Amino acid sequence: MKAELLRMLRNSKDYISGQELCESFGVSRTAVWKVIKQLQAEGYDIEAITNKGYKLISYPEILSGCELMSRMNTQWAGRKVYFRKECESTNEDAKYLGDEGMDHGSLVVAQTQTGGKGRRGRSWDSPLGTSISMSLLLRPDFAPNQASMLTLLMAISVAEVISKSCDLDVMIKWPNDILVNRKKVCGILTEMNAEMDYINYVVIGVGINVNQKELPEELAEIATSLLMEKGERVDRNDLILNIMEYFEYYYDIFVENGDVSAFVELYDGYLINRNETVRVLDPKGEYTGIAQGINDRGELIVKREDGSIARVYSGEVSVRGVYGYV
Ligand code: BTN
Repeated sequence: MKAELLRMLRNSKDYISGQELCESFGVSRTAVWKVIKQLQAEGYDIEAITNKGYKLISYPEILSGCELMSRMNTQWAGRKVYFRKECESTNEDAKYLGDEGMDHGSLVVAQTQTGGKGRRGRSWDSPLGTSISMSLLLRPDFAPNQASMLTLLMAISVAEVISKSCDLDVMIKWPNDILVNRKKVCGILTEMNAEMDYINYVVIGVGINVNQKELPEELAEIATSLLMEKGERVDRNDLILNIMEYFEYYYDIFVENGDVSAFVELYDGYLINRNETVRVLDPKGEYTGIAQGINDRGELIVKREDGSIARVYSGEVSVRGVYGYV
């Protein structure tokens, strides 16, 4: 009821009478008043005028499940939000809920994580009040070997949203680091629960540095936040809502095509080090070559020095610029 009431207030330019709210939810005036009080305590400025009703004047930049659910306009992505004030890892929560039968498109969002996970066993910092930590659960009806392409879809969704809403120079470091001014602002960790030929579920975890004023010393060289690059705070709820809209749109196209052919041009436009020399850290042997862009399966095409073409599949391989991280 809280999220729905907030949605009604947000969608109305005028006052909504207490009576109308009571009738919509089939509850008493006291019940409506209690929810209004809760929202005010959370920072929503709601004007209450006798004989007129309630009007939403302004709302705070706090990440909240209620805020997200009252504003989500997608068909399925993020329609159900599981909101945590604190959890170890939203990916772990989403996997647990996946085992319990959570719906396709459900989204776990946390204000902070105590054990955020990065790729290759690294940890991920998710400070309270400034970052985004979220995990989207999908139950795709395609083969497990197509799942790695979902990471690229999420990468372009995040890249599009940041570049359009923050007006920043965004790039993607293949396969899924999002960079602003050549420093990382977002990482994506995709995990899958599957049989040989059947996916039970996929969890796409997204961590974004949004409103941090500074980062730990050891990250300062390679990472940044949107606030640090843009010079102003960015609304985290807006970012999540927009990312869900983009992802849903791209996912439906991806499912129809069975590959990322529709997104190659878009992705390559964001690709850092395109047409430049990169080092491919393949456990079977490192090599250098020119990064040419991705193919329809999301693999990075690298032209080696001897002229042969390598298709780099995400898995174990890492790609670096010749001078370091990018
Ligand atoms: C990386 O670049 O190494 C991937 C970082 C992924 C971090 C996100 S934050 C939300 C989700 N929960 C986690 O524990 N990890 C991902």
